[in-house]
Amino acid sequence: MAANNPIGVFDSGYGGLTVLKELVNKLPQYDYLYLGDNARAPYGSRSFDVVYQYTLQCVNWFFKQGCSLVILACNTASAKALRTIQQKDLPKINPDNRVLGVIRPTVEIIGNYTKTNTIGILGTNGTIQSESYLIEIKKFFPDIKVFQQACPLWVPLVESNEYDNEGADYFIKKYIDELMKQSKNIDTILLACTHYPLLIKKIRQFTSESIKIISQGEIVAESFKNYLVSHPEIEKNCSKNGRIELYTTDSEEDFDRHSAVFFGRALKSKHINIE
Ligand code: DGL
Repeated sequence: MAANNPIGVFDSGYGGLTVLKELVNKLPQYDYLYLGDNARAPYGSRSFDVVYQYTLQCVNWFFKQGCSLVILACNTASAKALRTIQQKDLPKINPDNRVLGVIRPTVEIIGNYTKTNTIGILGTNGTIQSESYLIEIKKFFPDIKVFQQACPLWVPLVESNEYDNEGADYFIKKYIDELMKQSKNIDTILLACTHYPLLIKKIRQFTSESIKIISQGEIVAESFKNYLVSHPEIEKNCSKNGRIELYTTDSEEDFDRHSAVFFGRALKSKHINIE
């Protein structure tokens, strides 16, 4: 076992902590290193090229810290950067390293939730415009109809801690209504952004009770657990001391306050610069 080979978990900001929480619940024995690129968040409104550059810089930072496996716990980065990093960059940086995303594990099982074969996807502009979910769901569940709605103001509401206020209701209801207008048959809504689980109470408030609302944290953690079982050559390199370290590219104080909400308990973060 490597002396220090934590599992890297990356997000543009705090959202990936909702995934880290489930990973730690399911797989507490491993070491984790989390990086939130808060100084440059949100990623959702940025171009393909910028999201790719930022994500690659952060992935390289993880590799320098000794991580050989990094999970992009961010749909926007998974949609816009993952494939290029896997196909173009990893072979040059280190072909033994792995970078995984959150779209594939979600898509693999999303079809099991719907009875009407009709799913609604809520995500950032970047995730929705990439059409990654449309393309990937078609591969696994060709009969399922997928409707999408971008929610550009939801991440800023969450990142600025305004999501639980009355003022947030207008924009939460607006995007749900816009999604539901597209088809009466939608019976499952996927929260395809790791920030959105924080909004679930409010989303529920504006959605009919019969609709299932799916967050990704547990799905990704379960899929990752299976991945480690089927890749013992990778699993054996992951260090196992149950340690969690958090890093942010912005203010440590802000990050620590948010981590209590997103992760469920307060953890101390450290500031780093990425360039
Ligand atoms: N948590 C990221 C996602 O899943 C959010 C993105 C952002 O920075 O806009 O897409």
